[in-house]
Amino acid sequence: MRKPTQFTYQPVEIDLIADHKGRVAICVDDEGRMDVSGRRVNRLTKGAVARLIESPKFEAMKQGQVFSLNLPAGMAADAVDVVRLSRRAKIDDARAAGASLAKLRGNADLMLVAGNAKYAAQIAFGLAMRDYSFVDHKTASETAKGAVTVVCGKPDEVAASAAPLMAVAEGAFMTRDLINEPANILTTTEFANRLVEMENIGLKVQVLDEEELATLGMGALLCVGQGSDAPSKVVVMEWNGGNSGDAPLALVGKGVVFDTGGISIKPAAGMEDMTMDMGGAGVVAGTMRTLALRGAKANVVGLVGLVENMPSGNAVRPGDVVTSMKGDTVEVINTDAEGRLVLCDVMWYAQERFKPVGMIDLATLTGAIVVGLGHENAGVFSNNDPLCNAFLRAASAEGEGAWRMPLGQAYDDLLKSRIADMKNIGGRAGGSITAAQFLKRFVKDDCPWIHLDIAGVASVKSETTLAPTGATGWGVMALNRLVSDMLEA
Ligand code: BES
Ligand code: MN
Ligand code: ZN
Repeated sequence: MRKPTQFTYQPVEIDLIADHKGRVAICVDDEGRMDVSGRRVNRLTKGAVARLIESPKFEAMKQGQVFSLNLPAGMAADAVDVVRLSRRAKIDDARAAGASLAKLRGNADLMLVAGNAKYAAQIAFGLAMRDYSFVDHKTASETAKGAVTVVCGKPDEVAASAAPLMAVAEGAFMTRDLINEPANILTTTEFANRLVEMENIGLKVQVLDEEELATLGMGALLCVGQGSDAPSKVVVMEWNGGNSGDAPLALVGKGVVFDTGGISIKPAAGMEDMTMDMGGAGVVAGTMRTLALRGAKANVVGLVGLVENMPSGNAVRPGDVVTSMKGDTVEVINTDAEGRLVLCDVMWYAQERFKPVGMIDLATLTGAIVVGLGHENAGVFSNNDPLCNAFLRAASAEGEGAWRMPLGQAYDDLLKSRIADMKNIGGRAGGSITAAQFLKRFVKDDCPWIHLDIAGVASVKSETTLAPTGATGWGVMALNRLVSDMLEA
């Protein structure tokens, strides 16, 4: 588990700035005003900062953008990074500024002179989120990351507001590490072990093995993993930080550690990307980590279905009929539509066991959602407007793209099977919606529910504001905020 960069928070001490090696970042507002330490940097550099502010370059800078003055005379630093940030800036801009500083610093020591900047903690959060790389499998010895010191007027206050944000960063890092990890390392067993380790931070964790899943009647989930040597598992993580007796919110994640498609095998090109098909389970795990680390005053239970979808002599065949825990039978037309088979049993189990106040499932479920929404928005499907709107607000506040999609009887009708209660696919048209309709059949009428199809946002091929290429950690920030808005307010 990679830990986010640990920051030191220090009061402003003007003399330290001149001698700092590495980089020094300062904040300038829209009117070109700096605080006392910024002015000190300006004097040390014989007015270089002021010249930037008076030049058209500053005028052209957007909120949160950074301009670097390299090898400044009069200072020991390699660069002065000038951040433009209004006192009325949005938190996204403050985070983007922090993220730019993280990229610019590489491994160098950074002194972030935040002075009395209103958003010091948000700048630090953006910095922490972007200061991530997945290098576990690079053998070349890695140069250690330098330190980050946040120099500010009220270090204790800034450190206190940054603490819960650093819990979010650590949860998102767990999600990213899980998603980036290749499938020969992150087997179902390894995944379960990493979740059990979270007992250290106060989660209650239980692993259900194949025998127990069979006893529960999870025929849909089990058929997906039956072609793999890796044992299928369901892991239940409980965080009881709220009133005892209050029903929890349930988070359910698709954890297909590798999706070959099974007998309906996928084409070779790009199949390696299916190491990220446990993304839903990764977001559930990271969110649970965040809630535990910040001691959320809420009851939340996270359940993940961990399986590997492989072709073999034991694999489920197209045309097979399986029985779900709910009792409904499913004709497996396409073994590559496996995520819904995993989720339907875990969702049913979550409702039977926990009677949750609401249920949110997350899954890299369909290629169709990537066609529809690209990599900017997850697909949001829901049977409950208040819960759905609360989630959309939380996602928007955190800058995580989320777009509501429709549900309806006509889509559900496409799942009719000649020989069983339903088929596992509804055809090419509206593929993400028919997948959601399949899941909806396993949601009890009185259970507020959201399905998040994160196939397009869980892992991406170009960097985002807060993450390098690869796993983004999408959803940890939004779900954490939803829990705090909905259950802790
Ligand atoms: N894991 C895939 C969906 C996926 C595609 C995730 C691209 C991430 C990126 C899922 O199990 C799948 O194979 N879905 C099929 C469903 C189809 C057979 C109805 C798909 O989207 O093609
Ligand atoms: Mn598949
Ligand atoms: Zn899949």
